[in-house]
Amino acid sequence: MPALREFFPGGAALCIVAAMAVPGFARAGDAEYGAFLAGECVTCHRADGIYAGIPRIIGWPEQAFIYAMKEYRDGEREHEVMQTIAARLGDEELAALAAHFARLDSAGGSEEEREQE
Ligand code: HEC
Repeated sequence: MPALREFFPGGAALCIVAAMAVPGFARAGDAEYGAFLAGECVTCHRADGIYAGIPRIIGWPEQAFIYAMKEYRDGEREHEVMQTIAARLGDEELAALAAHFARLDSAGGSEEEREQE
């Protein structure tokens, strides 16, 4: 996948580590697992939701988020980078990412993180 390498020299390695590090831990809609997976997303999409040429993906209803990602994965929605990224993600990963990003708001953190401060 040359397109992906260009954007993420370490992307493939990260993916293998993710697969090894979290067997049993990956449950549908697991926001913590989503936070772990989200590291790569926020190299482009801003975690604080500020639009900088790349669409905001925080605070979305989870189903809408999953739907958009599946459209990329199924090739119904065209975008080379997002299609490549979505193609690597299974349903559990999508649900986890949806749960994570849905919990973020414009302050750039999750409610829980702020409560702990
Ligand atoms: C290399 C940069 C890049 C990375 C990394 C990236 N995205 Fe994207 N993403 C984009 C761009 C650019 C678009 C707009 C594509 C389009 O016009 O269809 C987009 C679109 C989206 C959309 C649809 C937004 C909308 O308003 O319809 C979602 C959802 C999304 N990305 C989620 C993710 C997730 C989840 C990850 C991590 C697994 C991720 N993206 C990683 C660049 C990136």
